[in-house]
Amino acid sequence: MKTHYTEDPVEAASFIRDGKLVVFPTETVYGLGANALDDAAVSQIYDAKQRPDSNPLIVHLASIKEALRVALEIPPSAQLLMEAFFPGPLTLVLQRHPSVPKIVTGGLDTIAVRIPSHPTALELLKTAALPIAAPSANLSGRPSATSWESAAEDLHDRVHCILCGDVATIGLESTVVDCTDQVPVLLRPGAISLESLTAVISEFSSDAIHLHRSPGMLYHHYAPDAKIRLVDASSNVLPEDNAGYIGLGVPSNVSSFRKCLIAKDIEDYSHRLFEFFRTCDRSGVEVIYCEQVMPVDLGRALMDRLEKAATSTKSGKYDES
Ligand code: TXA
Ligand code: MG
Repeated sequence: MKTHYTEDPVEAASFIRDGKLVVFPTETVYGLGANALDDAAVSQIYDAKQRPDSNPLIVHLASIKEALRVALEIPPSAQLLMEAFFPGPLTLVLQRHPSVPKIVTGGLDTIAVRIPSHPTALELLKTAALPIAAPSANLSGRPSATSWESAAEDLHDRVHCILCGDVATIGLESTVVDCTDQVPVLLRPGAISLESLTAVISEFSSDAIHLHRSPGMLYHHYAPDAKIRLVDASSNVLPEDNAGYIGLGVPSNVSSFRKCLIAKDIEDYSHRLFEFFRTCDRSGVEVIYCEQVMPVDLGRALMDRLEKAATSTKSGKYDES
């Protein structure tokens, strides 16, 4: 298929209404969207991404009042979290409304919902006037796309439309919280940190035992072609030929790296990580050294992505989320 490129969310919305696939910007990463209420439209997402259809999608909404179009009920914990963090980089898992096709949720009776804060995404959602199911706009197993150019690198001629916007400000995917039990469960750390979630709801579970509930967590993730090595401090880095480095500290042998990115702070590190992985792959870097950070606040989400990238191997990898 031929991909149409546009900067106009109103034009992109007409593709959604026609049952077509649209790549669009959000504040976290780019999404690959289709009408969540249209079985055939959603099935194209799995084909375009080469993603197993057991891995459920996030449904994007224009406003909180739309949540009851796709979810059966809003439990008190979800209500509090919505009021505190919607629109923004938070996804809540609720009970699925029967009107949402099961293909959206990989057969589950629960559904993940989020309202992005990105103005272009909101305009797309408001104009389409439909819930939009969207995973990250990358081929399965590749790092999430944080620019329309990276999304196009993976999905050109696999989607009907790419809505070109700015580079995603956060750069890591949304925080995912399951609200279907009495005590909410953190399924995926993101820019809405555990610390800020517990400021709203004191009892929270991040128990690894719950991870089976989020099918995407079972898959390998976020891996570039290069091997990822996590290092404690930049001084420990002994580059081989053809290595890359990303971190906060400057390695002593900085000039021996083929690609090197010294981030200003954790926000900057998170914002640029996936694009750096892609840059390294484009130039044939074989090993990327990544400096570890303290796993608190946004650092928890960053370490989650780094650890997943480090444990993914080309041969053992069968999908990402
Ligand atoms: O920031 C984001 O969340 C981006 C943008 C485009 O919104 N989307 C994104 O989607 O990262 P995706 O498909 O790459 O990751 C969705 C994650 C997966 O780990 C999936 O398993 C989990 O959310 N998920 C979706 N529905 C779920 C459900 N009903 N129960 C538990 N986990 C669910
Ligand atoms: Mg993904």
